[in-house]
Amino acid sequence: MKKILSVLFFAFATLGVSASWGAIDKSKTIKMATEGAFPPFNYFKGKDLTGFEVELGTELAKKLHVNGEWKTSPFDSLLIGLNQNRYDLVVASHGITAERAKAVDFTEPHYCTGGIIISNAGGPKTAADLKGKVVAVQVGTTYLTNVQKIPGIKEVKTYPKDTDALQNLMSKRVDAWVTDKFVALEAVKSNEKLHLQLGDMVFQEKIAMAVAKGNTELKNKVNTALNDLVKDGTYLKISKKYFNDDVSCK
Ligand code: ARG
Repeated sequence: MKKILSVLFFAFATLGVSASWGAIDKSKTIKMATEGAFPPFNYFKGKDLTGFEVELGTELAKKLHVNGEWKTSPFDSLLIGLNQNRYDLVVASHGITAERAKAVDFTEPHYCTGGIIISNAGGPKTAADLKGKVVAVQVGTTYLTNVQKIPGIKEVKTYPKDTDALQNLMSKRVDAWVTDKFVALEAVKSNEKLHLQLGDMVFQEKIAMAVAKGNTELKNKVNTALNDLVKDGTYLKISKKYFNDDVSCK
């Protein structure tokens, strides 16, 4: 993590901040980045990038009266690219952490959630059950940092994508997977025959969008637009579509 942060600081120091609000307004385009492999938040349906966060980001751009342009990048490179001026806004289910807040600025949270244990039938369900077990997590995530705090785990295996961690759980190469509770629910539903089981939530987090460090004007614009989407019911409509529930931080 220390190494990642120093890379982030280096990128920030050498390449400056992303487009100011003025530049976005002038070009009438906001460049947004996500991963595209984290269903139901950001993923590809065939060739189309979609999901709760993609729909939300696209509506956000409309509120800002600019075109929303999407880019996808591996999860662990997203915040680095932000400070390299490759895009203006990252919408990729980042939990707000003190570490990350040293390198980027977070908007108000766009949903609240937690990390949960998921396993095959008969597998571990509680943090205590993970003793002596092999646990899969996506690299660069809060699942990794939180799982590392659980004592007695035999091995934590990291994967570039969260979907790789799921594949390894389904093929029984690992005993458990720790991921977002909504991602886990989606995995259970879309693999019904496998009878994957949900266990305990191991931590809770607030998820927010990120702008380059110091890009306060853009952050404020995004916060206002997000608030407008809540007020006019657009947020709830998209939330209901994906979760049949309101996932905002109430
Ligand atoms: N919420 C977790 C974190 O903050 C995981 C986010 C993973 N996002 C993704 N697009 N794969 O680290």
